Amino acid sequence: MQRLNKPEIILALDVDKLEEAKGFVDKLYPKIKLFKIGSQLFTAYGPEAVKMVGDKGGKVFLDLKFHDIPKTVYSSIISGTSAGLAVTRYPADVEKEVKHAVTRPVFMMTVHTKGGQAMLEAAAKGAAEKSKELGIEKPLIIGVTRLTSDEDNADTLKEVLQAAQLAKDSGLDGVVCSALEAEKVRKEHGEHFIIVTPGIRPNNVAVDDQKRTATVKEAVKAGSNFLVIGRPILKADDPLEKTEELLGELSR
Ligand code: C5P
Repeated sequence: MQRLNKPEIILALDVDKLEEAKGFVDKLYPKIKLFKIGSQLFTAYGPEAVKMVGDKGGKVFLDLKFHDIPKTVYSSIISGTSAGLAVTRYPADVEKEVKHAVTRPVFMMTVHTKGGQAMLEAAAKGAAEKSKELGIEKPLIIGVTRLTSDEDNADTLKEVLQAAQLAKDSGLDGVVCSALEAEKVRKEHGEHFIIVTPGIRPNNVAVDDQKRTATVKEAVKAGSNFLVIGRPILKADDPLEKTEELLGELSR
């Protein structure tokens, strides 16, 4: 796997209406190129929401945190891998080895590490098989460790590190954890292991229901590849201005 370079911000499209989500994508793309679709939007609109982001040129982090029997997770990952695909067909006279190209909007999906090794392996297998069949890049399969809304306690770090080890042993590409554990995870698993950190809060913004929070700067310093940000942008008086401010912090 190639080394990931600069950390990127993912906007969590945690809104009820597709129109509202589209409004944020219209306003913020291409400053933000990655958009998280979670259970709130996906339950209401399904692949239509994925396609909306793909049609705009954005990529989707499909955060459905699958946790079920291995076969169901395997099949769900297969469905997610092909969600919102766009197929471009070339005219017959175009000299191309392949007469069509598939663009995949879903670049990353989540599964819960609590599901155990067999379930995590099934997820990795589903993504590898389906992407190969479609001739597209494999979506990253990321294991959720402990939610950032969980209180920090004496066992948090240990549990996150155990979950990260399990994720790696099962063939996943990385984990979701808070910035507070990211540094240790990075140290144990090296530069190719992907770390996704939600719970990002600028110093002057309400923490909401999040408990293990960090600023953009702290998350980057801890080694995060992808910073998931929702309410600090969605609820800002001026989402574009807030995005620019956070991107500025990211690049400094
Ligand atoms: O609004 P806020 O910035 O708190 O949004 C964080 C997003 O990250 C939410 O969509 C939430 O579902 C997600 N998330 C999280 N903690 C995890 C995994 C995902 O907060 N461990």
